Amino acid sequence: MAAAAPGDLAVIAKRWKEKRGSLIMALHDLQSRFGYVPREAALELGRQLDVPLARIYEVVTFYNYFKLEAPGRNIISVCMGTACYLKGAPEIVAKLSQKLGVKAGETTPDKQFHLQQVRCIGCCGLAPVVTVNEKVLAKVKAADVIDQVHACAKGA
Ligand code: FES
Repeated sequence: MAAAAPGDLAVIAKRWKEKRGSLIMALHDLQSRFGYVPREAALELGRQLDVPLARIYEVVTFYNYFKLEAPGRNIISVCMGTACYLKGAPEIVAKLSQKLGVKAGETTPDKQFHLQQVRCIGCCGLAPVVTVNEKVLAKVKAADVIDQVHACAKGA
């Protein structure tokens, strides 16, 4: 899992600072970046947004969506945006679920892989898209996806 980079947090804070009621969206961005909400990152984000850590934890613990623990060593994100969906993202999720033995949103028991579905990540021309940690896999085929994932994975 990547360490909290102050630059990323500054970008997220800047994006949401002036918008009312944007704490959930800022935390969503944070979790998209790290795969969960790391304590130090939440603390720093709160500092930059002028929101107390207690308020951040209130939100994070209220919504099941947010995770406070690193979900797994390798984060596999399957884009379920329209372009990727139409080009086979559901089959990719099904194949990964079958091979890894977890559903979307779950982590393998050995903590090596976390499988998740995400919204459009902005490279629809490469659909269907899967990311493994920071690596983007383009025009993925369900039949090959598990090999591609293993090739990109850290220490699996
Ligand atoms: S729909 Fe998947 S990248 Fe846009």
